[in-house]
Amino acid sequence: MSPKAPPFCDNVRLATIADVPRIAVVATAGFYYSPVFSWERTYHKEYPRDTMMSYQKMFADIIRDPQYVALVIEDEYRHLENNETDATIEADISLMPPKAGTKIIVGAATWKFQPRSSRVGQFMDSKDMESLEKPTFDGGLGRDKSEDHTEDLDCKCDEAEEKYFQGHQLMDMIVVHPAYWRRGNGTKLVKWGLELADLDRVKQGVIAAEMGEKLYLSMNYKKLYDIEVMDDENSGNKVKVGVLQYTPSNLSPHGTPTKPRLWGWLPWLFWRAV
Ligand SMILES: CC(C)(COP(=O)(O)OP(=O)(O)OC[C@H]1O[C@@H](n2cnc3c(N)ncnc32)[C@H](O)[C@@H]1OP(=O)(O)O)[C@@H](O)C(=O)NCCC(=O)NCCS
Repeated sequence: MSPKAPPFCDNVRLATIADVPRIAVVATAGFYYSPVFSWERTYHKEYPRDTMMSYQKMFADIIRDPQYVALVIEDEYRHLENNETDATIEADISLMPPKAGTKIIVGAATWKFQPRSSRVGQFMDSKDMESLEKPTFDGGLGRDKSEDHTEDLDCKCDEAEEKYFQGHQLMDMIVVHPAYWRRGNGTKLVKWGLELADLDRVKQGVIAAEMGEKLYLSMNYKKLYDIEVMDDENSGNKVKVGVLQYTPSNLSPHGTPTKPRLWGWLPWLFWRAV
């Protein structure tokens, strides 16, 4: 039997493969404002289609990976939403804008389970898994990306995960379309993830850019340190992300449950024995 999952409420639901084209629009519109985007996707304006296609592949791979869970959040569609982002949106032509006020995906978040988690495979898109004609996402040509910048930052982030997040659950990505910011959408997604960590009694780690960091710090994450990567000493061109950790209240700072689980069972065992 699958372990208990945090409830889905307030327009939050599991992401499916059919959601991928819309999630890629949301990701391009929202991540544009992350300093990591301008650091890595230096040529976005020249190759906006590559950005969109790479987000499609990133999210499709995660939705199909049993080690992850991906959620989306919906809100009422705002006419001309893309006027509220400076990103260049080259959406799939299959995406027709709905009527204003219709519910549409406005945000997405993904988490990676801790090693040996009993949740592996719990949240798969069964329709996609059973389908004989799965949509494919080739990821584009990557011409929007600066390879050096991406490699340097990835390398530092991998080191940090290795050092600080052994055995942790990972908050992997979160993004909300700017036309729907500050309406509590990001908070609802992060809250679901924290409930997941609480239920699993496991620490959760995240590497966050500035806006995400504010959100996490307001929700009981603690900052461990900052990662800074720069081009070269003279250019002044650099990017900074924070390494943050959430410790569920039922865990000691060392990661062990504050009460051994057996204690919870003892009265029941005693009662059964008499
Ligand atoms: C971070 C993000 C997911 C928050 O989404 P949201 O739906 O606006 O979240 P909420 O409405 O729940 O707001 C939560 C907090 O996010 C921060 N935030 C949201 N919009 C912001 C903005 N335009 N400027 C600065 N901070 C902002 C604030 O701290 C806010 O709390 P406050 O309103 O009490 O100040 C969203 O701003 C986003 O997608 N940013 C770009 C992508 C990104 O940086 N992702 C995080 C990478 S780790």
